[in-house]
Amino acid sequence: MTTGVSRTRGPSPGYRPRTRSQQASQPPSRRVEFMFLPGLDFVVEAELRERLTGVRRVHAVHGRSDAIAADYSGPWESLLSLRTIVAPFLVLSFPAPRPGSLVSGEYFPEIEAAADLVARLNAPPPRTFRFDAAGSASAGYRKLAARLEDATGLTYDDEEGDLVLRFRRAVDSAAGWDVLVRLCTRPLSRRPWRVHNFPGAANACVAAAMTRLVGPAPSQRFANLMCGSGTLLIERLLSGPALVAVAVDNDEDALAACAGNLSAAGLRDQARLVRADIAEDAWAADGPFDVIMADPPWGTLTGSHDTSESVHMALLERAYAAAAPGARLAVLTHEIRIMERCLRQAGRLWTEYQAVRVFQKGHHPRIYVLTRK
Ligand SMILES: C[S@@+](CC[C@H](N)C(=O)[O-])C[C@H]1O[C@@H](n2cnc3c(N)ncnc32)[C@H](O)[C@@H]1O
Repeated sequence: MTTGVSRTRGPSPGYRPRTRSQQASQPPSRRVEFMFLPGLDFVVEAELRERLTGVRRVHAVHGRSDAIAADYSGPWESLLSLRTIVAPFLVLSFPAPRPGSLVSGEYFPEIEAAADLVARLNAPPPRTFRFDAAGSASAGYRKLAARLEDATGLTYDDEEGDLVLRFRRAVDSAAGWDVLVRLCTRPLSRRPWRVHNFPGAANACVAAAMTRLVGPAPSQRFANLMCGSGTLLIERLLSGPALVAVAVDNDEDALAACAGNLSAAGLRDQARLVRADIAEDAWAADGPFDVIMADPPWGTLTGSHDTSESVHMALLERAYAAAAPGARLAVLTHEIRIMERCLRQAGRLWTEYQAVRVFQKGHHPRIYVLTRK
């Protein structure tokens, strides 16, 4: 798969503190790195180019499959509204020989200004900070932590710190250190609408990526089969309205979680929730659907491996029956072999348009985007 991300490198513009109003709204060009789940690089790049003004020179980060970098001069707030990334980091580059040297008056004000920026971008603001670095307990880092505590009033908390500073040897120059300051106090994948957790819930960034892969449109009739707590449904509706949105699950607790999350997202009146087995017809009355999404049960959390093949097959057949000609079906599944087998059997129903492998904390689910024949 080609990402379209160019592998250019160049000098860092560095971070120059500005006045408070400039920092909160319109910064000059800065280097920003966007962390995401490996596999989603091309989806993330498309989102950056489409949704950010002031983004230039999007390029790969040497040796990383979970980050791309760009020069950015748009509003900081826009970075926190991205849906497919896990976190944006502001990159500060210093010609310092070691991290401990960053306490010097030559470098430290930039770090302090970045901490100040994070405090103004997040509500509630950070109360603690942590260092993400090899050897973060060494004397040099301890000196830097003490200086940052003094300057900002934040408390150093190695485990739970909500302002995160990541340290690494400079990427764009022969010597020196980069400090990557996470601009959000918690990963963006932890959505504020998720007020009900659910075993086996989809990752919200993956759900947002699925929405982009099928292409949302206001004229769409949309169905989320086996909706669980509603991650795919909610991320679809947050990307824009749909003509019709239906979500189906045969589990009452799942639908209650879905209703709660929908309400928290301010979307409760935009979807019909149906308690039914996908084999039943009740949910299909609002079709035929232009886009259908599903993430069938996996592992032992929400299902069993023994029934997985029949569930995947039922999904492909029932979605086909309720889909409009040319409709898209996006399936997120961990059961790759089973899905491949079912796709071969259902070859007369669906054409495979795209398969995207995602690397997610030891799991390697795949997003299949299919087109109805
Ligand atoms: C992996 S979970 C979905 C998680 C969901 N995307 C979320 O983010 O919370 C799979 C869901 O499929 C539902 N399910 C399993 N078999 C079903 C069937 N035959 N008909 C309807 N729902 C089913 C389960 O109740 C479960 O909620």
